[in-house]
Amino acid sequence: MPALVLLGAQWGDEGKGKATDLLGGSVDYVVRYQGGNNAGHTVVVGDQKYALHLLPSGILSPGCTPVIGNGVVVDPSVLLSELSGLNERGVDTSKLLISGNAHIITPYNVTVDKVTERFLGKRKIGTTGRGIGPTYADKINRVGIRVQDLYDESILTQKVEAALDVKNQILTKLYNRRAIAADQVVEELLGYAEKLRPYVADTVLILNQALEQDKVVLFEGGQGTLLDIDHGTYPFVTSSNPTAGGACTGTGVGPTKISRVIGILKAYTTRVGAGPFPTELFDEDGEALRRIGGERGVTTGRDRRCGWFDAVIARYAARVNGLTDFFLTKLDVLTGWEQIPVCVAYEIDGKRVEELPYSQTDFHHAKPVYEMLPGWSEDISKAKTFSDLPKNAQNYVKALEEMSGAPISAIGVGPGRDETIEINSFL
Ligand code: GDP
Ligand code: IMO
Ligand code: MG
Repeated sequence: MPALVLLGAQWGDEGKGKATDLLGGSVDYVVRYQGGNNAGHTVVVGDQKYALHLLPSGILSPGCTPVIGNGVVVDPSVLLSELSGLNERGVDTSKLLISGNAHIITPYNVTVDKVTERFLGKRKIGTTGRGIGPTYADKINRVGIRVQDLYDESILTQKVEAALDVKNQILTKLYNRRAIAADQVVEELLGYAEKLRPYVADTVLILNQALEQDKVVLFEGGQGTLLDIDHGTYPFVTSSNPTAGGACTGTGVGPTKISRVIGILKAYTTRVGAGPFPTELFDEDGEALRRIGGERGVTTGRDRRCGWFDAVIARYAARVNGLTDFFLTKLDVLTGWEQIPVCVAYEIDGKRVEELPYSQTDFHHAKPVYEMLPGWSEDISKAKTFSDLPKNAQNYVKALEEMSGAPISAIGVGPGRDETIEINSFL
């Protein structure tokens, strides 16, 4: 069994943390391949709840090596405080590996993220304000700082000075902010160097050697397919590739090594931040989904926008990721509705459209075409097998599977590890 990818099939917060943790006990490596501490992955183990932002969810499984791949952007202060928070709770984090090629989120990247959003006003993206976009922009502009730069003071100083030359012009002249002193940034970054040193490694070599030895490697995506910089609802997206291809570029493992791509799919839909969302609800059903589903951001504490399941999006995610399976989460949240609307297509300017339109203008005009599926009222949180589910819940899952373009191999019926129905084994 070579490598597997686990990623978000919607706009993030599908339950990737729980799904990763569930598999973490049976895999050798869990690797984050993109994003940074914009992610908020909740893992519930027994009566303990963990909110992970930068660390792979495999960190909670003792036999598993957690890896931060080259495609991730790392805020060292967040990383160190996340590590010490886990250590205080008795979690051993000593196996963590960090790619020397991962880029560092510097304090000026965080500043630029915040001032840019403020400047955009009504047109803002609603970013998490963690410096993600500006850090990826620096990477692409070839003025980024990498983890390995922390170990060469002269190179680090030159790179920070080069990056700030331009940024300070923009900060002072355009945004009316104070200039940032390069030497202070360098001093702060050097202060992290020794603390991070034990973790820094050639993760490309380690992961490829592990695969040669038939070890099992799980790639854990942050965000989701519709937040992908290429395949998402641009410009209302994040600045990396959460889609399956990102697992290759973000880790240095080739696509021929990946045998399974699992899309985590919520039984309804949520989104945080700005951007189009055809099935969004503004009524009491939306309120109820938010309340019952606990739909509040783990990272920013913002209320998540909520809506019904959108099969057009699920089909799109199956296609752009080459999904082999779906893991349907939060089915329990839908308990109690007499009828559950599911979006099967869009109506765009009077025409029925079955697939996600490539034109952003069309997508902004898309109105959901709903099919009503009968609901159920029985508590499903104790269900262990598919046949334990009430008939209408079974039919809801089957209908979603038929519409969505890949088999549903697991179903979440609660936040805990064991609140899962496994249909086809992932390993
Ligand atoms: P992630 O970003 O994809 O890891 O998802 P988040 O952790 O941001 O949000 C998912 C939320 O749903 C978390 O609070 C999880 O504990 C919770 N959760 C995950 N799966 C299930 C499920 O099947 N049922 C219920 N009720 N909650 C779930
Ligand atoms: P997980 O991994 C949901 C959203 C932000 C914003 C947009 C860009 O927990 O699913 P960014 O700070 O990345 O530049 O913000 O992307 N966003 C997420 N939404 N879940 C996430 O992560 C997200 N990470 C970023 O709200 O709309
Ligand atoms: Mg989340």
